[in-house]
Amino acid sequence: MPLYRSALLRFTPSDEALYEQDGLLATAPDAAGVQRVVAAGSWSALSPQYVGDKNATKLAEDVTHLPGRIIAPGFVDLHIHYPQTDVIGSPADGLLPWLENYTFPHESRFSDPAYAAEVARFFLDELLRNGVTTAVTFCTSHPGSVDALMAEAETRRMRIIAGKVLQDRHSPDGVRDATGPSLIDTETLIRRWHGKHRLGYAITPRFAPTSSEAQLRGAGELAAQYGDVWIQSHVAENHDEIRWVRELFPAARSYLSVYDEFGLMRERSVYAHCIHFDDQDRALMRERGAVAAVCPTSNLFLSSGYFDFAKADAAGFGYGLASDVGGGTSFSPFHTMLAAYYVGREGHAKRGQSLDPQTLWWRHTAGAARAAGLDGVIGNLQPGCEADFVVLDPQATALLARRTSQARNLDELLFAMIVLGDDRLIERTVIA
Ligand code: GUN
Ligand code: ZN
Repeated sequence: MPLYRSALLRFTPSDEALYEQDGLLATAPDAAGVQRVVAAGSWSALSPQYVGDKNATKLAEDVTHLPGRIIAPGFVDLHIHYPQTDVIGSPADGLLPWLENYTFPHESRFSDPAYAAEVARFFLDELLRNGVTTAVTFCTSHPGSVDALMAEAETRRMRIIAGKVLQDRHSPDGVRDATGPSLIDTETLIRRWHGKHRLGYAITPRFAPTSSEAQLRGAGELAAQYGDVWIQSHVAENHDEIRWVRELFPAARSYLSVYDEFGLMRERSVYAHCIHFDDQDRALMRERGAVAAVCPTSNLFLSSGYFDFAKADAAGFGYGLASDVGGGTSFSPFHTMLAAYYVGREGHAKRGQSLDPQTLWWRHTAGAARAAGLDGVIGNLQPGCEADFVVLDPQATALLARRTSQARNLDELLFAMIVLGDDRLIERTVIA
């Protein structure tokens, strides 16, 4: 039984952060060979049971002692595009020119399975270097782009949720798919990958403007037939995009309601952005059990707008943090949490403090897991959870060491890491 001794961060069932300065984490494999948390808590309380006197010498060999380090849940990125790894930092006047000039031309390269496999390997390496153990990711419209990523994630035993993009109109040659075959491919990929080891499939209409009504209807039918697969798309990100949707779907009450009319809002549906919502949209999110992937670095980079955290909380729909690479600018959850702090101030009338550090961290771990319908599975280190975790080294840089050593409480420690952290803070990422 692997045992770890170090500082330990996790969350209570009522979503509060729990921090042990001298903690113990014990894990053991389940029937499928996935390591699960058996015990987590203070070293002094748990070590008599798990390290013991009787077999102390033998068991002590299993203890990995990590002085000065912090074990914390692996981060969950609720929305990212693996094929846009090489699109990061492409400037544009806004979403639509960015798609046309950079994203679509680049995604067309994923018709080549060898290219897709190379990017998939780099992408998963980069997630792990940044402490991200689960991502809900778009692939491209090419079915081979899904096979490439899933095969690579399976080798690494990662919990990855991904899907083939559906886009049968208003898309250039090279990324546009055909309605009938796109739905057949989606079903084939669901059967091939969903539930295989730790992998999950997401039905993935890119966004309403690039899918015909027939394709959206077909996607909704698959979502009804395969009730435990995920759905992912984009909504209410950019004003030009919203105007376009209004032209294409003049009878719809709002952009969001287009998805609802086609049966694409239910539990396990993850909508990126959700910025330009009204209260009816927010109420619909809650009623359907749909959740938002909040992408602050992307929204700042593409000048899309500001997610309203306060109104989301008031409406009571679920959400979690996401990078949205390559509209997003970083794989690092620390950069995303810091950007969320800046964006959160906008929702709070631009004054004073924004989101507190425990909430930011929760929204990128246990809170994101709950939004994805994986509460108690990932994103936390309570008994029963799959043991995906990171080892943080708060001494990783001179400034981090200096600043974190002066933290007087958990909020100060977490804030220092959120503001100063990047991939150097992640000493190790452990996959269950
Ligand atoms: N809307 C439709 N496609 C995309 C995409 O690739 N990225 C973002 N940020 N928004 C989109
Ligand atoms: Zn996106």
